[in-house]
Amino acid sequence: MRRRTTDLACAIAVGTALALTGCSSDAGDSAPRLSVRDGFIPKPALKDMAGGFLTIVNKGGADKLVSISSPLAEETIGHRTVGQKMQQVKSFDIPANGELDFERGGNHLMFMKLDHLPKVGDKVEVELRFEKSDPLTAELEVKEATYNPKNS
Ligand code: CU
Repeated sequence: MRRRTTDLACAIAVGTALALTGCSSDAGDSAPRLSVRDGFIPKPALKDMAGGFLTIVNKGGADKLVSISSPLAEETIGHRTVGQKMQQVKSFDIPANGELDFERGGNHLMFMKLDHLPKVGDKVEVELRFEKSDPLTAELEVKEATYNPKNS
């Protein structure tokens, strides 16, 4: 709603000398433009749970990741690692013109109660839902259990 108000204000201002200040899309009110890269799941050993990693790239205004689901798991949630412990996170901020990283030792997706044990090379679909943007579907490739893109 806030965005619509801004656009209307900008439309009214067009053509006047005062016009364009405040209508800049750098103000953080511009629409988010999200994409997903580098998604993977280290091959889980048990059907109880699996972790997942990806990066959400944003070339627009700020947004929030508010929920995650996947046919692989009964429930998929967002986790953050704090020290040696994992905490559930309800929503993750996606900064304007920035990235939200899910990576080893930090934020990660947690797949709970797997439907089956995926094999290396399998693709797992994940649906990401956001506060503002339309949902995105990402395919996460199942990698060896020890895989870490930072080491390769
Ligand atoms: Cu976790």
